[in-house]
Amino acid sequence: MQIKSICCIGAGYVGGPTMAVIAKKCPEIQVTVVDINQTRIDAWNDNNLNNLPVFEPGLADIVNEVRGKNLHFSIEVDKAIEKADMIFISVNTPTKTYGKGKGMAADLKYIELCARQIAKVAKSDKIVVEKSTLPVRTAEAIKSILDNTSNGVEFQILSNPEFLAEGTAIQDLLNPDRVLIGGDTSTIEGKQAIEVLVEVYKNWVPKEKILTTKVWSSELSKLTANAFLAQRVSSINAMSEICEKTGADVQEVSKAIGMDSRIGSKFLNASVGFGGSCFQKDILNLVYIAKSYGLNEVADYWEQVIIMNEHQKDRFSDNIVSTLYNTVSGKKIAFLGWAFKKNTNDTRESAAIKVADNLLNEQAFVAVYDPKVKTKQIYQDLDYLGSRSLEENKKYLEVFENPYDAMKDTHGIAILTEWDEFKEYDWEKIYHKMKKPAFLFDGRGIMNKKKMEKIGFVYYKIGLGDS
Ligand code: NAD
Ligand code: UGA
Repeated sequence: MQIKSICCIGAGYVGGPTMAVIAKKCPEIQVTVVDINQTRIDAWNDNNLNNLPVFEPGLADIVNEVRGKNLHFSIEVDKAIEKADMIFISVNTPTKTYGKGKGMAADLKYIELCARQIAKVAKSDKIVVEKSTLPVRTAEAIKSILDNTSNGVEFQILSNPEFLAEGTAIQDLLNPDRVLIGGDTSTIEGKQAIEVLVEVYKNWVPKEKILTTKVWSSELSKLTANAFLAQRVSSINAMSEICEKTGADVQEVSKAIGMDSRIGSKFLNASVGFGGSCFQKDILNLVYIAKSYGLNEVADYWEQVIIMNEHQKDRFSDNIVSTLYNTVSGKKIAFLGWAFKKNTNDTRESAAIKVADNLLNEQAFVAVYDPKVKTKQIYQDLDYLGSRSLEENKKYLEVFENPYDAMKDTHGIAILTEWDEFKEYDWEKIYHKMKKPAFLFDGRGIMNKKKMEKIGFVYYKIGLGDS
């Protein structure tokens, strides 16, 4: 079987970029990305490529190249399902906010809705691909819904988790470390379905990088990969606190351990805490799964990664308060960056949100500048926490279009995201427009301490102790 038409349900950070790359690399396949969110689809179809709902380096060029040819964005979900040979489910799988497993388990209601819609609409056999990150054994539930509610149509369920990181999504998709495809390896039909998806990826991914496994291994590998990555960040962040107490420099420690080929150098940058839509959600999900099997020690082990991350964010804001003479009430503090990492407009679980909330609780005025995040999003992020009303948030937190305006007359500046442009600013000019002593809190370790101190800043870098 050769795929002629793909439908992807969910036009988000994964669905959009992933399908754009499939469309670019497989010109003979028609790819339709559907979503129930009309505004999002309109933004994907916007002629002005600056208005695409997802900012990723290189994405706009690809969309420009293939949109309208073999890449389409639409809200006509049923039509796209019916036409497709292969359907990717790429909807959100947030942490449950109600009922059993609240605050831990993955909320699978959007996945189930997709399965039911596919079952209702499909008139011919389909391969259904889990692209969303899901708890191990979700494929079983999807299969049960499809088999019991559809009219004699045959479905094969594959798990094909996505490993792209935001900010480098296009590069990650064009040149992945590996592609993982899990399926029912016990049947001929299952094996055939796996091969059909392998053929799609073989258009640009070398065969040896395409792994095929049992479906359960594939589902669990995704959660495991995120847990290991987040664990490295929490491990180095734990060391950053020891460095600050002992006079060591965490960047030197990272370099020293990273040169050990068994450890490797990636994901060893100490920071104000990891953010992003997935690390916390996926670890909480893993903890929930472990607990549900009675594996309490396993659950506690992974939960510690989250506890450490919360601690890192809190201790960053605590340090700002204690350094500014134990009070920030009525003081203005500028935030450079709101996104959870550079080169993305995504703010989900960004450390900046928690740090801002803590400082607002201390009655500080916060002035935010981020090159890609929209003002509305920043207020939405704070509103979601529910600590205070929107009016109060607007009174105490202001968003600036110009970084120099944000930093003017401040008592302190906090770097929350590692955007490259921050390093290029005229720091002399910034210093002269600040209140003195001028404090700089570098939550990403991107500035040069000596240079900043020479200008006159009182400089704090995460993980750098006094020598
Ligand atoms: P997202 O919130 O950006 O996008 C999900 C989209 O699905 C939304 O636009 C929503 O409107 C749509 N949707 C929900 N239910 C729908 C339905 N029934 N029909 C049609 N559309 C529907 O989410 P995302 O960041 O793209 O993540 C999607 C999945 O991929 C999650 O499981 C996530 O864990 C996983 N993932 C995300 C990343 C990442 O970098 N963001 C990376 C790897 C894996
Ligand atoms: C992460 C994984 O890297 C992807 O493989 C995965 O597909 C994705 O989650 C997902 O499942 O959603 P992402 O969250 O986009 O990707 O970005 P990362 O580069 O992993 O960064 C996550 C957070 O960790 C960011 O806040 C980043 O600043 C922080 N981080 C990362 C550090 O603090 N230090 C590091 O050394 C690396």
